Amino acid sequence: MYTIGEIRERYLEFFKARGHVVIPSASLVPENDPTTLFTGSGMQPLVPYLLGTPHPEGKRVTNSQRSFRAEDIDEVGDNRHTTFFEMLGNWSFGDYFKQEQLSWLFEFLTDKERGSGLDPHNLYVTVFAGDPETGVPRDEESVGIWRKLFSEKGIKAKYVELGSEEEGSKQGMQGGRIFSYDVKKNWWSRAGVPSKMPAGEPGGPDSEVFYDFGSSHDPKFGVECHPNCDCGRFLEIGNSVFMEYKKKEDGSFEKLIQRNVDFGGGLERITAAANNDPDIFHIDALAPLVDRVPNNLPVKTKRIVADHSRAMVFLMNDGVKPSNKGAGYVLRRLMRRAMMYEYLAGDSRLNFRSLLEKIINVYHGVYDISSETVLSVYNEEHSKFSSTVKNGLKEFEKLAKIGAISGKDAFILFSTYGLPYETTFEFAKDRNIEVNKEEFEKEMKKHQELSRTASAGAFKGGLADHSEKTTRLHTAHHLLLKALQLVLGNEVKQRGSNITSERLRMDFSYGGKMTDEQKQEVERIVQSKIDEDLPVIRSEVPRDEAEKLHAEHEFGQKYPDRVSVYSIGPKEATLEDPQFEKTFSIEFCGGPHVVHTGAIGRFKIMKEEAVAAGIRRIRAMVE
Ligand code: ALA
Repeated sequence: MYTIGEIRERYLEFFKARGHVVIPSASLVPENDPTTLFTGSGMQPLVPYLLGTPHPEGKRVTNSQRSFRAEDIDEVGDNRHTTFFEMLGNWSFGDYFKQEQLSWLFEFLTDKERGSGLDPHNLYVTVFAGDPETGVPRDEESVGIWRKLFSEKGIKAKYVELGSEEEGSKQGMQGGRIFSYDVKKNWWSRAGVPSKMPAGEPGGPDSEVFYDFGSSHDPKFGVECHPNCDCGRFLEIGNSVFMEYKKKEDGSFEKLIQRNVDFGGGLERITAAANNDPDIFHIDALAPLVDRVPNNLPVKTKRIVADHSRAMVFLMNDGVKPSNKGAGYVLRRLMRRAMMYEYLAGDSRLNFRSLLEKIINVYHGVYDISSETVLSVYNEEHSKFSSTVKNGLKEFEKLAKIGAISGKDAFILFSTYGLPYETTFEFAKDRNIEVNKEEFEKEMKKHQELSRTASAGAFKGGLADHSEKTTRLHTAHHLLLKALQLVLGNEVKQRGSNITSERLRMDFSYGGKMTDEQKQEVERIVQSKIDEDLPVIRSEVPRDEAEKLHAEHEFGQKYPDRVSVYSIGPKEATLEDPQFEKTFSIEFCGGPHVVHTGAIGRFKIMKEEAVAAGIRRIRAMVE
C-alpha cells in the first residue's frame, strides 16, 4: 500500500532531481484575485509567471497544491470525486516543453523505485484533436512522443481519432492507446474552452493520462468505454497543459511570449492507482475518515462526510468562516450538509470532533493545521445549525408525507429553515419524490438578485417584509377572510389590508357589528385550520383561470394577465383537478406565506370596529 505521503515525497524528489525548485502550497483562498473564490489548481497562483514575469525561483518549479473545487460538490459520493484534493504540479516557464514533460511524467508514473510504479499497460493517454475556430492544430508532436514512450516498454500504441466524447461513446476503444479529443476535453484554461476565455487569459492544448482499472471491478465497464467515459473504469490521473496561447481582445489567439508547461496530477488519484484500487476513499488519508462514519449510513453518505470534513478542515484553517456569502457560504453549505448526517446516524452518533481530529492528525507535519481554529469555528457553526435543523427536518417530513415537494418548497426549506438543499434533494429522492430543480434554481436566483439589490441599498423600504412573523400573519389573513365568509356570508369581500410584524388589519364589506359569538366562531375556524396544518401552495396561472377558480381578490385592484395565487389545502386549486373544492382558501397574492398553516401559531382577534358605512375593520394577531 502506498500512502499519499510517500507519493507526494517521491514526486517532489523526482522533479527536484530534474532541476525544479519545490515551492510551498498557496492558500486555498486566492490572494489578490477577486475573480475566484478558491484555489482549484496549482497554476492559479502562478499565472503572472506563465504570462512572462520571471519567477524568483527560476524557470522550473514544483509543488503539491491544496485545491478545492466547489463545482464538483454534486459529484462527490462516487468512487473518485472529492471537493478537496492535492494537486501535484510541475511547471516550465518558457523552459522545457512537450518532449521532456511527457517523458518525465511517464517515467515518474511507471518507475517502481522512485515513482508510483504503475503498470504501463494500464495507462492510456489523450491529446488535442485540433480546433478550426482558434486555428490551433492537432497535437501531432505529443502523439509521436507517446508512441515512442509506450514502444520502449514493448507496447504498440495505436492512435485513434475520436474528436468528441459522443464519438467516443459510439466508436469505443478500437484497440487504441492514444486518443484525440476536441476543445471540450483537451484544451485547458482557467475559464474552460477557448470561447469562454476572457481576453488576456492563457491556455492551450493538453494531454491527459488515464489509469485503466480493467473491466472486472464493475459490469458497467464495457465495450463502449473510452478514456473520457464516466463509468469509472478509467481514472484521469494527470494533465500536462502546453500553455503557449493567449486570447486576444478580438477573440482570436496569439502565441504567448514563452512556451510553458503546466502539469497537474491528482495526488489522491495517483495513490489509488498505485494501489490498483479504484476506490479513492480507500487511501490512507480518506479510509480512516470513512471508517469513523457509522455503518448504518450508506457508502455514498460515508464518502460525502469524509470528503466534506476534510475540505472543512482545510478551508477553516485557511481562514474561511461560515457565512452567507462567497467562500464562507460554500463552507457553510459543506458543513451543514455533513452535519445533517449526524441526525441520520441516530443512536450510533457520528462523532465529528474525532473526525476532525483524525484529519489534523493525518496531515501532521505536512500542513500546519491549528486544531484550536478548526474546532472553535466548527463548534460555533454546529451550535447555530443544531437549533435550526430540527425545524427544517420537521417541515420536510410534513411535505414528504403529502408526497409532493415543489422547487419552491425546497427553496423555502433552505431559505427559511436552513435545510441544506442537497439534503432536500437527496432525501426526496430516497422517497421517490421528484423535486423540480429548475423551479428551485429560479427561486434561488430571484432570492440572490433580491439580496444583491438589498445589500446594494437600492429599493430600501420597498422590499416586501419577509420576516417570520409577518409571513405567519399573511397566511392568517387568508384564513381569516375565508372564516368571515363562512360565518357572515359570502358577500363579505376584502376592502383593504395592512400587515406589520405586530398585527394584521383587514377591512371588509359587511353591514353591521359582529357579535361576540360570531367573533369566537371566526377565531375557532381559523385556529382549526391552523391546527390541521394544511399545506399552503403557490401557483402561477392566467388571470381568467384564477377567476374561474373564484380566487379572492381585492375589489378595484388591477391584476396582470398571469397571476400568482395561493391555495390553502388540503388540495391545491386547479381547474383540471375536480378536487379543487377541497381547497379551504384561494387568493390572488404575491406572498410570502408559510409552507404549512401549523407554523402560524395561536390566532386571536383583538378588535372589530366600523370604518365607514358598510365597511368593518378587524385587527388580529398571532403568537
Ligand atoms: N492546470 C491544469 C489542470 O488543472 C493542469 O488540469
